[in-house]
Amino acid sequence: MKKFFKWTGIVLGSVIVLLLIGFAIIYFSVQSRFNKKYEVAVQSITIPTDSASIALGEHIAAIKGCTDCHGKDFGGNIVIDDPALGLLPAPNITMGKGGLSSRRGNFTDEDYVRAIRHGLDKEGKSLKLMPSYEYQPLSKKDLAALIAYLKTRPAVDKEMPGVTLGPVGYALANFDKLPLIVAEKVNHTAPLEEEVHPAVSVTYGKYMAVSCQGCHGNNYQGGKPIIPGSPDVPNITGKGSLAKWTEAQFINTLRTGVTPEGKKLDPKYMPWPMAKEFTETEIKALYLFLKEQQPS
Ligand code: HEC
Ligand code: HEC
Repeated sequence: MKKFFKWTGIVLGSVIVLLLIGFAIIYFSVQSRFNKKYEVAVQSITIPTDSASIALGEHIAAIKGCTDCHGKDFGGNIVIDDPALGLLPAPNITMGKGGLSSRRGNFTDEDYVRAIRHGLDKEGKSLKLMPSYEYQPLSKKDLAALIAYLKTRPAVDKEMPGVTLGPVGYALANFDKLPLIVAEKVNHTAPLEEEVHPAVSVTYGKYMAVSCQGCHGNNYQGGKPIIPGSPDVPNITGKGSLAKWTEAQFINTLRTGVTPEGKKLDPKYMPWPMAKEFTETEIKALYLFLKEQQPS
């Protein structure tokens, strides 16, 4: 009997040691990916100050979901707080205490472009969780307007905690199951388009649909849940949901969060309140483009 306990002790001990070694390997590998410094050619953009541009910027911020993470007043907000995944706050991005310049030192127009379009902080290291891969395709006109709008936001004094990952957060980052190491997912040399004209066109629909790829996949066919415990992601192509929905039904779904089948979409997982802000033109273009996707 004593021998039995001795052997189970040795086996258990070895398993624990192996687990710790495994975790250490993951931890150091993820840390080194976070600490990597990227040398990118950041486009220099002139930021407008006219009211039409600022209004356009407000619209871009609404349809790209900036406030979902950074808070209605851009003063910061906790996005994920889970002991296993970690604490993932989106920082204060106003010019108040705890905001951009107070944390980073003089935050320039170039720093906005580096963060939004490349997913990099002032030092050139990857931001965590910030979906810059979805903002990288923004046209010069829309990006400039967005930054113009951000710069007019009133200063909010609010200190947010930093990002800390839990063990599951490290494992998901390591195996690329959660898009945490943002800069790795951005094409840093993609050309900056001058302008993409809003129109009920496939081209404009494609431009809009970039916001859906993070969850519904590059080909919009959905798949496994994004975060463990969240629902499966549906196929929203012409072979999926849009095979049976009319344009009016699609619009109604994104405006109300209820599908024609009567399914209520949970805004925690499917950000339809962001899609509610789409203009008529934007939502129709999106339908046109998604309907045309006919994966075999
Ligand atoms: C899914 C949540 C999420 C969304 C949506 C989001 N952000 Fe972020 N953003 C973050 C997080 C988290 C960070 C901090 C990352 C870090 O510190 O590593 C961040 C960082 C930033 C920074 C850099 C701050 C710094 O300290 O250098 C800027 C600027 C920014 N976001 C602007 C925006 C804008 C503009 C939008 C909308 C177009 C947006 N964000 C949408 C989560 C988000
Ligand atoms: C943060 C992840 C995420 C993003 C971004 C996202 N979706 Fe979703 N979407 C989901 C999830 C998860 C569901 C399933 C929700 C549920 O079952 O409650 C869903 C469901 C849907 C449905 C319902 C489909 C059906 O047959 O029930 C439609 C339509 C849809 N999304 C369209 C879009 C469009 C269009 C965009 C881009 C503008 C988009 N989604 C962006 C995660 C996302």
